[in-house]
Parts: sequence; C-alpha cells; structure tokens
Amino acid sequence: MKLNIAVLPGDGIGPEVTAQAVKVLKAIAMEFNHIFTFDYGVVGASAIDKTGVALPQETITLCEKADAILFGAIGNAVYDMDPMAKIRPEQGLLGLRKTFDLYADVRPVIAYEDILDKSSLKKKQIKDTDILIYRELTAGLYFGDKIFSDDGNTATDTCQYNRFQIERIAHLAFEAAQKRKRKLTLVDKANVLASSKLWRKVIQEMAPQYPDVAVSYMYIDKAAMELAINPRQFDVILTENMFGDILSELAGVIVGSIGLLASASFSDKKAMFQPIHGAYNKASNQGIANPIAAILSAAMLLDHFELYDEASLVREGVDKSLKLHITTPDLNTKYQHITTIKVGDFIEDFINNPEETNLNFTNIHLGQSTII
Ligand code: IPM
Ligand code: MG
Repeated sequence: MKLNIAVLPGDGIGPEVTAQAVKVLKAIAMEFNHIFTFDYGVVGASAIDKTGVALPQETITLCEKADAILFGAIGNAVYDMDPMAKIRPEQGLLGLRKTFDLYADVRPVIAYEDILDKSSLKKKQIKDTDILIYRELTAGLYFGDKIFSDDGNTATDTCQYNRFQIERIAHLAFEAAQKRKRKLTLVDKANVLASSKLWRKVIQEMAPQYPDVAVSYMYIDKAAMELAINPRQFDVILTENMFGDILSELAGVIVGSIGLLASASFSDKKAMFQPIHGAYNKASNQGIANPIAAILSAAMLLDHFELYDEASLVREGVDKSLKLHITTPDLNTKYQHITTIKVGDFIEDFINNPEETNLNFTNIHLGQSTII
C-alpha cells in the first residue's frame, strides 16, 4: 500500500516521540512491502516562532494532500502564564480538528498485565481494564462562543451541541461496542446541563437501533470516581468534548503512565493520530519521554488502513518492551539508561526480526544486547 503521511511533530517532546513512531512505520513498510512517505509540517509553539501562527496555511495544505496525519504534541509553558495571549499553541491542534472536522476521537485505555504495579491504583482493581473512550472533538465548550465583557470582568463559554453532532459520533461508538463487550456508557451531566440532556435524549432514542448493546448512563462526577475505583466495568465510554478530555487523562493513571495512551481522531474523510499527552517541554531532549503512546498511535493509523497484521506486530513489539521493562523512566525506575530512542530501536528491531529479538532479551538490561 502507498500512504502519504503528514507528520506534525509540534513542540517539546513531540519531535522525539514522533520520530520513534515514524521509525516504527518505516520498519513496517520495509517488512510488509508498503511505500510510506512522510512530509513534515510545523504546528503549535514552534509554528508560532517560525510563522507567527500556530497553524500555518502550508501545514493545512500538507495535511489536505496527505492520507493521514501523524501528530506529536503541542504547548509551551510560556503561554500558560499568559491566559490572555491572542495566539496560542493549542490553536494549532484545535484548528486541525476544526479544519478537518475530526469529530470522533478514539482513546483506548488498556491496563497492561506486565506493568499493573506501575499504576498508583490497586492492581486487583485495574487488572483487565480495556476501555475505548469516544470523545466528541469538534463542538461543546471548546468551540462554542467565547466572550469577555468590555470591562474584562465577566467571561462566557458556550457549550452547544446539536442532534447531528451527537448522532454521528454515537453511531461510531455503538458500532465499536458491537465489536467489543457490547456495553456503552454515556457520560454526561444531564441532571444539570441542557447540552447533556440532549445527549441523553438522543442516545436513548438511538439505543433501540442497537439492541445488542447494553446502554448505561453516568454523570461525569460519578464516572470520574468509578473510573478510579472500578474501571473494569466500562467497555465503550461515549462523551462530549470537555468530559472526554478530563476522563482520558485520568485514564493515564489506570495504565500507569499517560505516556502510553494513544488516540485517533476521525472525520468522514481524514484521520489524525496522536498521543494524548502534551508537549512536556521540561522533559524535551533528555531522552526520558515515553514514545509508546506515539508508537501506538501509529498502530491505530495502520488499523485505519486495514493493515491489521502490521498493527498487531507493532502492538506485539510494545507488549514485549513492557514485559521486559524496556521503557523510559516514567515506567522504569531501575534501568535509567533506557531512553526514548532505545525504546523506539527495540520496537523497530522487534518488527524487523521478532524471533532474533527474543534471543537478545536476556542481555538487554546488562547493556550487552546488540539492540540496546
Ligand atoms: C488533548 C489535549 C488538548 C485538548 C489540548 C492540548 C488543547 O489536552 O488532546 O487531550 O484539550 O483537547
Ligand atoms: Mg487532554
């Protein structure tokens, strides 16, 4: 298969982790005889530095031409302490979501057996957690009208949803549930918010179309608690933009590191793949950023093009790296010499040669392996 991938590494640790994902995709292309080409663009704070805006037209054009977008991370603390800044790195990401109408954000949350002890939650509570979060990504508070009063003392954000926006992502979430444990939980705040009342009404009306899916409804406050206490109860979680942002970050606690959580955002025509974490500027260029979320995002890209064997091989490589603790310091306090690049190298090596990689395992932590 021929694929042209627009790569937007972004800020902070974005370039480092994205480089590992590209490395892995190149190994897959080699192994399975595909032709993947990569074209790079700027976004976020680095784009502001270069062009004055977070999402230059050149980057949009690059993405328009591409089959898929591989995104790193954006953000810079400089802007965090200037809440009134007119130009912000986040506009790069939000602009891409809006430009390409990437309304369905899919965020898998899997508690890996080999690293259950890395979570600050109890092992027995998180074991076997396997959740798919469907987060609406192009409406709600993020995109509603934002108003500051003239005196600067009142601010308004508007949370608006219409039936169309709810139905289109809900269909995808129901279909995903049908292929999994056939459970869908709508997370909302329908006891208070008008937009949530609409979400609940629309999902209730849609549920009979999917009789094989058990639908439940949970308020966001309760869902946050349940996710921490008993995440295993969830299969597919469907929710609006802001709630999905918060819940998916909380999910990072379940899996042991936010550096493991991948995502894919879809419109009907375009798809973008990115780790859910931010730019973590303080950690950049130290080799400590976990590349697995970026690599698993690349696996989601392969799934999207129905390259399932290829995606499985990437995931096997990730599983192996976790099993052998070939991971960055967020998951690994013992072997500090394992850097972002080494994790990427290991997974690349696994793809090139799964059998031989096995032979090298015992030597890896002794620094005697050919791979590390
Ligand atoms: C995410 C991020 C973004 C969001 C930020 C960077 C705008 O936190 O993808 O979860 O809030 O959507
Ligand atoms: Mg977030």
